[in-house]
Amino acid sequence: MASNRQKARLVILISGRGSNMRSIVEAAQQGELNVEIAAVLSNRPGAPGLDFASQAGIDTEVIDHKSYDSRESFDQAMADSIDGYQPDFVILAGFMRILTEGFVSHYARRLINIHPSLLPKFKGLHTHQRAIDAGEREHGASVHFVTAELDDGPVILQAKVPVFSDDDADTLAARVLEQEHQLYPAAIKRLVSQQTE
Ligand code: GAR
Repeated sequence: MASNRQKARLVILISGRGSNMRSIVEAAQQGELNVEIAAVLSNRPGAPGLDFASQAGIDTEVIDHKSYDSRESFDQAMADSIDGYQPDFVILAGFMRILTEGFVSHYARRLINIHPSLLPKFKGLHTHQRAIDAGEREHGASVHFVTAELDDGPVILQAKVPVFSDDDADTLAARVLEQEHQLYPAAIKRLVSQQTE
């Protein structure tokens, strides 16, 4: 963290509902997390999470990926905006775009993601259905550093839930999401405290 700062600054990237973003904002509001949320950015104009963020008094921006003709130009626009906020960490919270290597390396060790599986299992999409189909007895979520490879990179923290025999993807997703909302603030807390040690 920049040495003259009392709090680590976060920029949070979302694409939709933004419930993980909300859990981080609420943990900060309740004093459980010593961070300042500098901005919430979305690649989708209608992302429901944007309303919550702006009502919480947080700067919001939309950088619509459809307005860019390449991943590189979209990622460059994102980085230009993010860098203006001088964040200590960039937090992907349901941000559903694949990022270029250039973007990822620009934020090396500062780019964090939450993924709804016990990595390295079930990278990619439809993780809950795939866990059920594979007959898993346990499933969960992982917070990890982002590296150039999709849903790879060192895991910071994981949370596990049981898989029940009558689960479908929705019931399992709901059980995992409840854990995600505890897990992401806890993982950020760990990162921030390591920075100030
Ligand atoms: C969360 O379950 C998150 O783990 C997942 O999208 C959901 C977003 O929900 N992320 C990924 O699948 C990334 N590969 P939210 O918008 O309510 O936080």
